[in-house]
Amino acid sequence: MKILLVEDDLATREEVSDLLETLGHHTVDSDCAEEALQYIRSDGSADLILFDLNMPGTSGLDMIREVRHTSTQSISTMPAICMTGSRDAHSVVELLKTGITDFLFKPLRLADLKSSLQKVESEISRVRAQESQAAALNDKLNEKDKLLEELSLELSESQTESVLCLAYAAEYKDLGTGAHLRRISKYAERMAELLGWSEERCSSIALAAPLHDVGKIGIPDTVLNKTGTLTSREFNCLKSHTTLGAEILSASKSPVMRLGAKIAHYHHENYDGTGYPSGLVGSQIPIEAMITAIVDVYDALRTSRPYKEAMDHASAIDTMCNGDERTDVSKFHPELLKTFLHNHHDFGEIYRKNTVADVPPIMLSAVAH
Ligand SMILES: [Fe+2]
Ligand SMILES: [Fe+2]
Repeated sequence: MKILLVEDDLATREEVSDLLETLGHHTVDSDCAEEALQYIRSDGSADLILFDLNMPGTSGLDMIREVRHTSTQSISTMPAICMTGSRDAHSVVELLKTGITDFLFKPLRLADLKSSLQKVESEISRVRAQESQAAALNDKLNEKDKLLEELSLELSESQTESVLCLAYAAEYKDLGTGAHLRRISKYAERMAELLGWSEERCSSIALAAPLHDVGKIGIPDTVLNKTGTLTSREFNCLKSHTTLGAEILSASKSPVMRLGAKIAHYHHENYDGTGYPSGLVGSQIPIEAMITAIVDVYDALRTSRPYKEAMDHASAIDTMCNGDERTDVSKFHPELLKTFLHNHHDFGEIYRKNTVADVPPIMLSAVAH
């Protein structure tokens, strides 16, 4: 052990120091409490303080009280043995209150010193064992927490992935390539960023927006891919992809899926109340659905269909600004449209970078990043 020996009497100090060295310990000697306290404060590394009770200046009792009040735990709990020639009961009681490990009466006997030191050593190894047990337990708890976190992330990712499979299936059924969903995710996320939403909310809409047309999985191909004008019955059938999508997604407990349900339900509502399925007006329509609606229209304008050519970015933005025979700008949320138009280059870039048809379907990361 490294022992801080505090003894004002030189002869005793040398004698005790020799004894300790003989017993295999290393000592740091000090002839007064003040010096010992300074050593502790500046370094503090000792396994034990072996100190004389009566010293000129600060007494051993006051020194040990100061040690106990130190804010550093390794110092305030340092084992201490008091050496004293006095058998004064009051001092003994006061020393006991400071939690010292043992007393040694002068003149020191080797056997007493040895047994006191053994007491301290076994106390130190008990504390160290406890500390390493606590650290091991803590490590295990941290490991379990990490595992739980990973499992719940895996679970929610696989849940999201399964529903994205469905969204891609619906997209392929609608003669899409999958690239549209990837772009919708990125457009919606960019809109959310431009609106100053939190990172978490931006990620949620990035995951949920591609689910907007998931209900098309339940619409017959004859309706979905008809090139001619739809009969009113067929149009009603097509419109039901909104409520169908909401039904599919709202069964989930995941917040992202629930947001997806909201978007699927309301992405064909119009700001002016002319949309479907509920004819909601203005702020009655969830904002995430209105964002998806705007970016979905932009993407539809950029995409060729059997019955129409694809527009370039400038023409698509012009149409979003002024409308045409198919696009009525009063259907868009005015503030969202303003945000979209002010930052239209961002959306053009997203389109440009995400036109590859063979987007690996269902890769969550492909949609999320
Ligand atoms: Fe739709
Ligand atoms: Fe779409």
